[in-house]
This record gives sequence, C-alpha cells and structure tokens, in this order.
Amino acid sequence: MKNRIAFLFIFFQMFTYHAFCQTDAVENKINALIEKMTLEEKIGQACLKGTSSRSKGLSDELKEQVRKGLVGAILNLTDTALVLQIQKIAVEESPNHIPLLFGRDVIHGYKTIFPIPLGLSATWNAAIAEQTSAVAAHESYARCINWTFAPMVDVCRDARWGRIAESPGEDPYLASVLTKAYIKGYQGEDLSAPGNILACTKHFAAYGAVEGGRDYNTVNISESLLRNVYLPPFKAAVEAGSATFMTSFNDVNGVPASGNSFLLKDVLREEWKYDGFVVSDWNSVTEMITHGYCADEKEVALKAATAGMDMEMTSQSYAHQLKVLIQEKKITEEQLNEIVRHILRIKFRAGVFENPYFKEKDSFKILDPASLELAKTSAVKSFVLLKNEKQILPLSTNKTVAVIGPLAHAHKEQLGTWIFDGDKTNSITPLTALLQTYATANVKYAAGLKYSRDESEEGFKEALAAAKKSEVILFFAGEEAILSGEAHSRADISLPGVQEKLIQALAKAGKPIILVIMAGRPITIDRILPNVAAVVMAWHPGTMAGPALADVLTGKENFSGRLTVTWPKTVGQIPIYYNHTNTGRPADSTSFVGIKDIPVEAWQSSLGNNSHYLDAGFTPRYTFGYGMSYTSFSYGDILLKKNTLDQSDSLKVTVTITNTGARTGTETVQLYIQDVSASIVRPVRELKAFTQVELKAGESREIQLSVPVAELGFYTNEGKYVVEPGTFNLWVAPDAASGAKQVFTVK
Ligand code: NOJ
Repeated sequence: MKNRIAFLFIFFQMFTYHAFCQTDAVENKINALIEKMTLEEKIGQACLKGTSSRSKGLSDELKEQVRKGLVGAILNLTDTALVLQIQKIAVEESPNHIPLLFGRDVIHGYKTIFPIPLGLSATWNAAIAEQTSAVAAHESYARCINWTFAPMVDVCRDARWGRIAESPGEDPYLASVLTKAYIKGYQGEDLSAPGNILACTKHFAAYGAVEGGRDYNTVNISESLLRNVYLPPFKAAVEAGSATFMTSFNDVNGVPASGNSFLLKDVLREEWKYDGFVVSDWNSVTEMITHGYCADEKEVALKAATAGMDMEMTSQSYAHQLKVLIQEKKITEEQLNEIVRHILRIKFRAGVFENPYFKEKDSFKILDPASLELAKTSAVKSFVLLKNEKQILPLSTNKTVAVIGPLAHAHKEQLGTWIFDGDKTNSITPLTALLQTYATANVKYAAGLKYSRDESEEGFKEALAAAKKSEVILFFAGEEAILSGEAHSRADISLPGVQEKLIQALAKAGKPIILVIMAGRPITIDRILPNVAAVVMAWHPGTMAGPALADVLTGKENFSGRLTVTWPKTVGQIPIYYNHTNTGRPADSTSFVGIKDIPVEAWQSSLGNNSHYLDAGFTPRYTFGYGMSYTSFSYGDILLKKNTLDQSDSLKVTVTITNTGARTGTETVQLYIQDVSASIVRPVRELKAFTQVELKAGESREIQLSVPVAELGFYTNEGKYVVEPGTFNLWVAPDAASGAKQVFTVK
C-alpha cells in the first residue's frame, strides 16, 4: 500500500513537472518571438480585422497588412480558399511567420442550426449544450474557422432585450453549468486537435443588465449584484479554460467595459488568474468616445490598453495610436508585450503554428445525418409545454388538423437570430413535417398571415375555412427571427401584427386551438390565453423544427423542457425574475387587493397591499423552472443527511421521485435554497443544484443532490465572498414556486 502511494506521488510529481515544463517551453517560445518582433508587428497581433462575409476576394490592402505582420486575426472570412490564401501569406511571407486566427459568430450552429441558446438552456441539459457546440465547432473547422464568438453567457432578467435569445436565461447557476459545457464542446479536451476551435466567452460584463432592456444601454449595478448574478458564468468560463473573452458594449457604473480595469484587470486577471486574451466587441473601443469616456482615439487606445483590453475588433485605435503612446511613455513596451503574450499563448495553445491550414478539415462533415438528428433531439428537449387543457395534447394522427399561422412554414424564421451561415433551404418546417405525419387530406394549411408582423387581414377568411374543415387548429405563432437578437429590443413583447386578432377570430370556429410559439423571448399571451387549449413554447428551434414539433405534438416524444426565464403576464412586470429579494413588504395572496377591488373614493391607505402591481399582481404567468409533461411526477419526503452543517461539509439531500402517469417522462429536479438572514438581503430562492431523471410509468427512483456549503455563500458589496452561519431554507421542487420547505443550519 505504502509503495502504491509512493508510486502515485512520484507519478503525480512527474506529471506536474511535465506540464510545468511544457508551459515553460511555450512561454519561452512566446518570449523568443516577442524579442524578434518590431513594435508594429506587436501592435499588429492586437488587431482583429473585419471583412464582409460577402466579399468575393481579398483586398490588396489586407494582403499587404498581413504580409507586414500588421494583423493578428480576421473575422467573417468564410470562403475557405481565401482563408487558406491569406494564411499562406501570414505563415510564409510575414516577418515572424505568425499564423492568423479566423473568427466568426457561430452562435447556435454553423450549417446545422440548433435551437437558439435560450431554447438550448430550456433543455437544462449540459450534455446537449456540449454536443451541439461540438458539432458547431466541427462544421466551422471544416470551413476554416478556428475561433467562434460564443458562448454568450449574459444572464438576463429582461425579455424586452433582444439578446435574451442568445442568453442562457436568468439563473447564474444554470448559466454557469451550461457555459462550461459549451466551452468543452467548442474546445474539446485538446484545443489543438483538428476540429476543435477557440471559444470566446462574451460579453464581459453585465450586458444582460442593460437598463430597460434597451440594447447597448447603461448598467448601474452594485458590486454584490454584479458578482452574485452576472459574473458567475464568466468565472465558470475561466475554470473551463475559455481561450478568449469578449468585452461588452455597455458601461458598468460609468466605465465602458472595453476600458474597464476593474473587470479586466482586478477581476479577470488578478482574482480569476485568466491567462487567455480579451477581444473587444465590434468598434466598442472607439465607441468609448461616443459614450463620453474618451475625448479622442488616442485616449481610447490609452484607456483600453491600460485597462487590459488585448485585441481590438475592427476599430483601429491600437493600430493608429499605440506606437505614439509608447514613444510618449504613456504606455510601456512591456505593457504591449503582455498583450501580445496573451494572444500568442492562445495561438500556441490552439496549435495554429503547427496546423495553420486546417488539416483534416474535410473529415468533418457539414449537415451530417447524426448532426441533424442531434438538432432534432435538442429541439425536442427545448420545447416547453405551458398549458394543456383537458389533455388536448398529444394529438392523434387520425385527426384532421388545420395548420395556420405565420411561423408554420417559414424556413428562415424558425432558424432564429445569429445564423450567418445557416441556410433556410435546409430547414424542415412544421407544415412539411405534419404533411409527412398525417394523411395529406387531413392537413388543411392556410397561413392566414404572411409573416409575424403582417397587419393585413386578407388571409383570415381562408384560415377560418381551413379551421372549419378540421377537428383541431395548430396555430404557429411568434416572432420572425429578426425581431430578437442584437439591437432588436421590443417595448411590447406580445405577438406582433394581427396574430392575436386571427387567433380570436379562429376561436369562434369552436375548434380547440394549440398555440405553438416560435420566438426569441417569452411572449405575453394573456389576452389570447382563454382562446387556446394548449400552449407550447418552441423558441426558434432551428433546422429540424418541423420533425421535432411533429413528434412532440403527436406524442411520439414527450415534453421535458423547463423555462429558464420567468414568463410575465404583461410587459410592465419586467424586470420579473424568481430569485428576487423579499422587500420588507412581500406580496401574498391573502393581503393582495387588485385594482378592481378598490372602493371608489377609497381612503388613502396602503390597503393592506404590499410589493406588487394593482393591475398585474405579483406572480408571473409562468415561473422559472416550469414546464409540463405528458406524464406526472410526485416527490417523496426530502431527507437531509445532516441538518446542521460545518463550513467544510456538503449539503446532501435525498428524495424519491415517482412517475405517477402513464408514460415515460423526464423530470428536472431542482434544489433551491434561501439564506434567511444575512449581512445583505438574499434572494427568496436560489437554484444551487439540479438533475434530470427519466422514469418509466410507475417507476420510482431515489435521487441524491449535493451542494458544498462553500457554494451557499454570496459576495458582499465590498466584493468579499462569505458563507455566513445561520438558518437556510431548502426546497427540492419541479419549479421555483413549489415544493415543501425544509430548514437547515450552517455553523
Ligand atoms: C457584435 C456583437 O455584440 C458580438 O456578439 C459579435 O460577436 C460581434 N459583433 C462580431 O460580429
């Protein structure tokens, strides 16, 4: 035994020594290169040049800049021949033969388009996140892209913000789990292996907190909120080895992120020990002038470089100003060397020196059948069943169905936002899939509206006729892809155009309506909720939307998706999120007085009311974590291994879940805690663990969940992480609003 321990110890030492020597060897190579580089070449490494995705050739100017070593990376060059051509210039003709990186926004798939990230988050499934990003990486690599600007990990509590579609939802813990999985998918175990590409975790930081959900807006935030809610996924990204980070467009407490040394230096480098490189967002560096944070390009370069921003995307303040700033001794050459070190380290780690020309790229297939199958599975798992009156779903395939709505056969729209390379000709729509599932004569199609914003009622008559001839109406509603994503915030998040009007008209036909929503955000549906028998949130599901939807609607597959954002009744409730603090006057149903209950000429008083809206109450339409299934589950007693825990313990919980319904289904078991009394107020609930369990009808399984006590803490307003002793509440539940409360104590 002793020998075995000694052997293991020696092995471990050899292993760490080997890793240390390897790191050391890379650092030596980097330093040797830096020694040989001129100032211009060093600055060149910090320049990310944009090209138009539609460019047919390479400009002579770009070729010349690459030849002189004045470019570190290029974005949006998607013609593989052009990539290889310009790479050859970099490798063979530039002074130090440093290869370029080729970046692209591959956000939820390259050609095989998976559900939008908000949809993927609704799977609550890290394996799906990893597998889909691995496919995206392989397809990108096959097209000579070795750097994706993903994952986007901005926690978001505001459905008006268009970019919520790209986000992992409102919860920092779930977002962190998914972030790690995405990075593993893109980068693999070995970043330098063919097929793996660099991840870029974005947007650092707090972009999801833009005021009013208006894109690019200001962010005013306490340090505790920043650290407890918005930073955790970024910290997780560092832990997962994210090769690069991207700054955000917004300012944080008055300092734009691209010039924010608190974020880039104090937090990212000092605290988290991040050693990759940071790229700015598109022109976000020079936009610091428009923000009113810098007077001119020179000040921009000074502030960005001093703050720790390494590579500038598209704007050229570094190219134009860094040399002068060094000559004027405002920036030292060692500061620039450090920037270059970050960039070269990642180039070495990614293996681009050994593999500049994408070897074996042709072995990675585009739109491979297995990838399309994954697109379908991930879509199925992302769908959330929100309402199912009288179990109208699943539908028998013997029924006659009217297929109506602007999203029923919209090849482009079902792909969602940020699909530069996705091709609508590969999309299979719900109509196409339903025509393959049902006898042709049993499907009556009439879109009713040409597109989601359509205001013309011309098609209503035909839609009504189709409805009358059918037993059930399948209404595919939602938003076109362009209505969410960057710069596409909305002040009213109900169905655009006259979709509601059409649904209300169809309701008069007396046939049950199944509402399937394809959108980049939760959509307020309270006005039409009484008119529909079932509601399915399908997000923008991607290439395989149709087959995936046909399978769940007809019951071939079950629903398992859960909301990762709180779904409001009305836009005025926003921001609305499950992990809010309590207030001194929390709302509850016993004391709540609604607008209609107030007597005329009521005496001035608070009417027993607490923190709520008179006209919208205090509960959302659907809570975080919610989602129905074709089966049902029951939770047994929640057993805590220990009720009093030391700081070094783990909270260990056991619960038996039973499938009480008639078919196989997957339950997402969620563990929430509340720190009851602390030095700053804490949320009413916080997700700390979850697991998924698939159970056959009647089957029971004991589930164990464990959370280290060290993870029950929070950051104070001084930026200190603490786990304060005291009482905690605990729930193990199917969503953020249910479950029986337990109590435990931390010593
Ligand atoms: C701006 C967006 O904010 C960012 O997410 C994207 O990666 C860059 N443009 C590059 O296209």
